[in-house]
Amino acid sequence: MDSFIIRGPSRLEGSVRISGAKNAMLPLMAATILTGGQCILDNVPDLRDTRTMMKVLETLGIPSSLEDGVLSIDAASVTSFEAPYDLVRTMRASIYVLGPLLARFGKARVSMPGGCAWGPRPIDQHLKGMMTLGAKIRIDHGYIDAQADRLKGAEVILTMPSVGATVNIMLAASLADGETVLENAAREPEISALAGALRSAGVEIEGDGTSTIHIQGRDSIEPFRHAVIPDRIEAGTYAAAALITGGDVTLENCRPDQMHSVIDKLEACGAEVTVTDDTMRVVGPKKIAPVDIDTGYYPSFPTDMQAQMMAVLCIADGASTIVEHVYPDRFTHVPELRRFGAKITLDGHVAVVSGVKKLEGAPVMATDIRASSALLLAAMVAEGETKVLRIYHIERGYEDIENKLRALGADITRVTD
Ligand code: UD1
Repeated sequence: MDSFIIRGPSRLEGSVRISGAKNAMLPLMAATILTGGQCILDNVPDLRDTRTMMKVLETLGIPSSLEDGVLSIDAASVTSFEAPYDLVRTMRASIYVLGPLLARFGKARVSMPGGCAWGPRPIDQHLKGMMTLGAKIRIDHGYIDAQADRLKGAEVILTMPSVGATVNIMLAASLADGETVLENAAREPEISALAGALRSAGVEIEGDGTSTIHIQGRDSIEPFRHAVIPDRIEAGTYAAAALITGGDVTLENCRPDQMHSVIDKLEACGAEVTVTDDTMRVVGPKKIAPVDIDTGYYPSFPTDMQAQMMAVLCIADGASTIVEHVYPDRFTHVPELRRFGAKITLDGHVAVVSGVKKLEGAPVMATDIRASSALLLAAMVAEGETKVLRIYHIERGYEDIENKLRALGADITRVTD
């Protein structure tokens, strides 16, 4: 297993190109199942999760190849309708194949994802959506066994604006008979990105980006070619890296218009942020000001940036409060950050971070994608050497992170234990 060794403190300076968004790409990969043809995705990041989704498609009989950011997927024929436990347990978003398989073939068998490091993470809203569109669902030996004749458009009201459930229902509704109205839908940019791809494939969709999405189902869907939007979480992570190291970093190929809540907090911490349509320059302050953060659904502050901002606030000039509203248990990075000397108290879903003058390098363990990037941020300002174990979590969501950080001036090397 590989680890990263980081020697700090360092100051990041220069430009970094932001990759395509993992969370926009995975729904697009699943959407190809609807088409029965050859689809192409551009600006695809080569991530562990990309490779996992390619394997999921391959087990269904759908070959794909990725070269230089171009992913070709040939969904002409499907030979299996099952997403197995071994793949789903490594990547929950494998459940995105449920909606399209059910809509196109009337059957799907997908392993239940189970809990994760941040708590139970139920999928009841996905299942409710499929059932409202007419599917019969049975849980069988840890698998979701779904059957349907032609799905029928319907009104689906989500209990909470789940990104995953919105994706799965949009995919299923695209091949359903008639109109689906999805209420309390997720408003994340990744949902609008999926809607854009489906529209280019001939599906009539309105209201994406708002809480009510209308989808007119079709009898068939054209193969499509679509570019993946830039990753706003990867961008936010490099912005946080500039902030924590008091650096000067320009993010290229990003979408500042999709990052308002993060930019607000960077500025509240004292960073100077300058944006164009597709770049963002972040200059870190000498002293980081404490800020309070409440995570929430888009356009609120993303839970996927909570761990990185916590790392930043560990060296702020005062105390900050972070309230995690989306995943109340998403704090596996807290004990690891404490190993650097951070002062954090945790009470339920509320963390209070009291800034300390300096952090010290330590051996730490990555626990999930964003928690791991928070550890890298802390390591870059900590004095001395840090070893980050289990970096496969980072590789799930950050393309080429060690080279990108090294090019900005970080002292980071990969070692194989
Ligand atoms: C997606 C993102 C993940 C991000 C999360 C929240 C992908 C691949 N992953 O995850 O990076 O952290 O959005 O922005 O895009 N819930 C239920 N029942 C359900 C579904 C969700 O109770 O059926 C709850 C969850 O436990 C959570 C909240 O709804 O509290 C939001 O979850 P959801 O938006 O579905 O997250 P994911 O789509 O899994």
